[in-house]
This record gives sequence, structure tokens and C-alpha cells, in this order.
Amino acid sequence: LVAFFQPKVLAGRKVVITAGPTFEALDPIRGITNHSSGKMGFAIARAAREAGAEVALIAGPVSVATPRGVRRIDVKSARDMLAATQAEVPAADIFIAAAAVADWRPVAEADQKIKKDGSGEVPVLRFTENPDILATVAQGERAKSRALFCVGFAAESHDLVKHAKAKRERKGIPLLVGNIGPLTFGQDDNQMLLVDEKGVQELPRAPKIECARQLVGEIARRLPR
Ligand code: CTP
Ligand code: CA
Repeated sequence: LVAFFQPKVLAGRKVVITAGPTFEALDPIRGITNHSSGKMGFAIARAAREAGAEVALIAGPVSVATPRGVRRIDVKSARDMLAATQAEVPAADIFIAAAAVADWRPVAEADQKIKKDGSGEVPVLRFTENPDILATVAQGERAKSRALFCVGFAAESHDLVKHAKAKRERKGIPLLVGNIGPLTFGQDDNQMLLVDEKGVQELPRAPKIECARQLVGEIARRLPR
């Protein structure tokens, strides 16, 4: 019932959201990934849908139920996530990058499982940098003209305000969200710090779905009419 009575502040808008971790394969058995439950991105998808938006949710490997009325596209690696995002954003009004994208991937994926050879020698892994999905989208013409409103998240372990401000400028986006306090992986509560061109604003601590609704409201009032 609460969901039904959310103000329809995003009616007629299309929202694209990335969520969850990415998985970068090393061989058919193993890979590297990030710590992320996907709960925050999924909560934002639900809140955006409640607010009347058409929502495409691009999800890395997570086990969270798809919110009702949300179109979900499953991906694995950062490169898959970039391709899926680029297919969706041309028709979107809002892009929210809530995914915990792996910054690096192994240079090559072995076709077969890498086996121990019995000598005790360990493999030496080489990495290459993944594409920055948010920065790539934010550099597009529609994003620059604010026809596509881009929102980023900052995962920081220290100096949140300083890093979040710098990250917003570096990515060239109007709004960046930081998580305040202890890292909130997998938890149901969250508290957000919003960084925009005017400065820094703290939102109240609340369950993730409430935080998501607050964020949707904050995005809606920053949109061009
Ligand atoms: N992001 C992305 N693609 C990447 C890396 C990050 O889209 N390859 C997005 C995240 O979804 C998030 C924002 O960029 O919205 C910031 O991610 P974060 O990991 O905090 O920042 P990085 O730019 O990767 O820098 P670092 O990890 O070194 O702090
Ligand atoms: Ca990163």
C-alpha cells in the first residue's frame, strides 16, 4: 500500500540502473568479483518504478528478487554490463550506476581450468583495466546536455567527503551518492550522502527501500522539466 501511494514523480521517464557486482572470469571455474549484494540498486529500481518510471535494471550476478514491473537484464562481466548499458541509455532520461564494477579483469581467460602442477608453484595473474561504464556514459552528448541525468555512487573506505567530491568532478556527473558510516554490504539499512554542484547533504539513516525513495525524490527535483 505504501508503494502504491508513492508520488509519481518519474511518470513518463525511463530509468536505467546498474546493480550488483561484476564477475571477471579467470578460467571456466574461477574469477574475481566485488563485494556487493545488489540490494541498493534493486531498491532504487523498485522505488523508481513506484514513482511511475519505466525501469531497465542491468544486474551482475546477485540473488535478489526482481522488483515487480521492472525489466531486468542479467550480465556477468564489466564489458557485458557496458554493452547492455549502451543499448539502453539512448532512450533513457536517467542513468544510475549503482553497480560495484570490478576495476580490473584478468588479461586473458583460460579455456580450460588452470590445474596445480604438483610443484607448489603458483600462477602469476596479470590484470588489465575494465571500461568505466559511468564515465563512458557521462561523456556522451545527451549526458553532457543533461537530457540524460547521470547519478554515480562512491564506494569509499575512508575520507568519504573528499573522495566523493573529487569523484563527482572526475566522472563529470551532476549527482554522486556516498554511503555514510560503516560499509553497508548486504545490510538492510543505509545512510546516504549526496554530493552535487552546490555541496554536500546528508539524508537520514533508513531501510534501503526508504533511502531509495529519498534518492528518487532528490533526482526527480533536479531533472530538467
Ligand atoms: N563505475 C562504473 N564502471 C567502472 C567503475 C565504476 O560504472 N568500471 C561506477 C560505479 O558504478 C559507481 C562509480 O562509478 O557509480 C564510482 O565507482 P567507484 O568504484 O567508487 O570509483 P572508481 O572510479 O572505480 O574509483 P576507485 O574504485 O579507485 O575509488
Ligand atoms: Ca572502483
